[in-house]
Parts: sequence; structure tokens; C-alpha cells
Amino acid sequence: MNAEAATPPSPDAIAKARRAVRQQAETARLLGVDFVPCFRSIEVETPASLAPAAPTAPALPPDPRRRESEAKMAELRARYERDAPHEKFTTPHQFTNLVWGDGDLCARLMFIGEAPGADEDRTGVPFVGRAGQLLSKMLVAMGLQRESVYIANVLKTRPPNNATPTIEEAALCAPYLHEQIAIVRPEVIVTLGLPASRLVLDSSESMGNMRGRWAEYVGPGLQGPRIPVMPTYHPAFLLRSYTPENRKKVWSDLQMVMTRLGLQPAP
Ligand code: URA
Repeated sequence: MNAEAATPPSPDAIAKARRAVRQQAETARLLGVDFVPCFRSIEVETPASLAPAAPTAPALPPDPRRRESEAKMAELRARYERDAPHEKFTTPHQFTNLVWGDGDLCARLMFIGEAPGADEDRTGVPFVGRAGQLLSKMLVAMGLQRESVYIANVLKTRPPNNATPTIEEAALCAPYLHEQIAIVRPEVIVTLGLPASRLVLDSSESMGNMRGRWAEYVGPGLQGPRIPVMPTYHPAFLLRSYTPENRKKVWSDLQMVMTRLGLQPAP
């Protein structure tokens, strides 16, 4: 074993590394990069050269719940494909790929958006276009990796003319979203924008009234406790109205989620 690598870093070295990361984050912020990782991630971002040698981690035992969720999700997707509820409002040549969902099927946090856009339609993966890039920045700022959350949409296919889903379209696809939520059973849901927030909360409130306030998901098929929901503005709306006020509101909503999940700011 390398004796040098096993020597723990001095408190001074750790403080210096933290300062460097903090300064780098602050510089990025000043350069206009928002949603920089300013909390928990700084705490864990000790440069590799200063980190104590990690013991070889034993292989994780297979997680039976994740395997069960994978099987259930595959079955649900196959059922969706057979039922094809989108065929009531779109035709096969109006979209390319089904955009089902992405991420950890045992995630503590689930994001629900509206419908795939052009980039998602092309790739089959939710939130990969400009709005998706902003969502990724938000996740980084929350100290989370995209793979550790689950992301789904109300509609699984790109709507005709890229329009906002109608209530009827959302209702046709809703049963499958409810089942996705029941399979992932996250601790917290964040709904992005009006169609997702209204559907998940069975509400007709405006976005301004819903955002920033905890609500509860009581949807069909849910076993166990109700799921807290934080509605917030859709990243696409934020891109269109990129004001400090709106950014602050979304960040404040996400900070409430962080607190709820115990993602505490570093001291
Ligand atoms: N907007 C959404 O609501 N969902 C996506 O997947 C991409 C953009």
C-alpha cells in the first residue's frame, strides 16, 4: 500500500482546497453561470490529490427493489406502447421517439415536465435540450447528479406543433404517469410548469399560486404515505423570462426541496 496516499490531509490543506473551490464557484457566478454548486457539493469536492485513500468498496449487494421497479417500469412502458394513447392526438409521422423517462427508478426526487421537445424527440431522452441543460445546472446546484433523480413528462411524445398539452391530451396519458410515480415512489416530486403541476395536484390554480408552496400527491395506485410536491416554474419559462426575480423564485423552491431531503448547505 502507498503510505503517502494513506496520509490524511492536514486541516490547513483541506481549508485551502475548500477556499479554492469556493473562489472558483464565485468566479463562475460572476461570469454569469448561475445555479453553480454552492452547497453540499463544495463540501465533498476535495481535490483527489488531497483526499484520503479510499478503501476498496465492497460490491454493492443487488438491490431487489430497484430490480423489481425495472421490471414493473418495462411492463408499464410495453403496455403504454400497446395502448398508444397518443394516437388519439398525434400521428406516427409527427414524432420520432417515445420519451418515456430517465434516471434512477429508486430516486428520492422525481421531476415531472410537460412534453418532449425537438431534442428529446430526436434522442428519446427527457430534458436534453436547452431547458434540459438548465435543469442539469439546477441539479448541480442542488449537489445532485442527474442519474440520481428520475425525470418524466406528462406526455411521452412530442405534441403536434410543439404545443402545450391540452387537458384532454394530458388526461389520456395521465394514468401512465401515475403508475410511473407509484413505481419510483420518490420522497419528493418537483413539478415543472403548469400542465405537470395541475395534473399531479389535480388543481386548476395558476403557477404563481402553486409555486413555492408544499402540496401533496395523492394519486391513484400510490401505496404508502402521500408524496410532498413542490411546483416550480418550467426551465423553458425561465429561459424565456430569465429575470433575477424568476431565477430567485426557482432557486428558493429548490432550496425548500433540498431542506426537505436533508441536502444541507455546507457550513
Ligand atoms: N420540456 C419538457 O417539459 N420536457 C422535456 O423533456 C423537455 C422539455
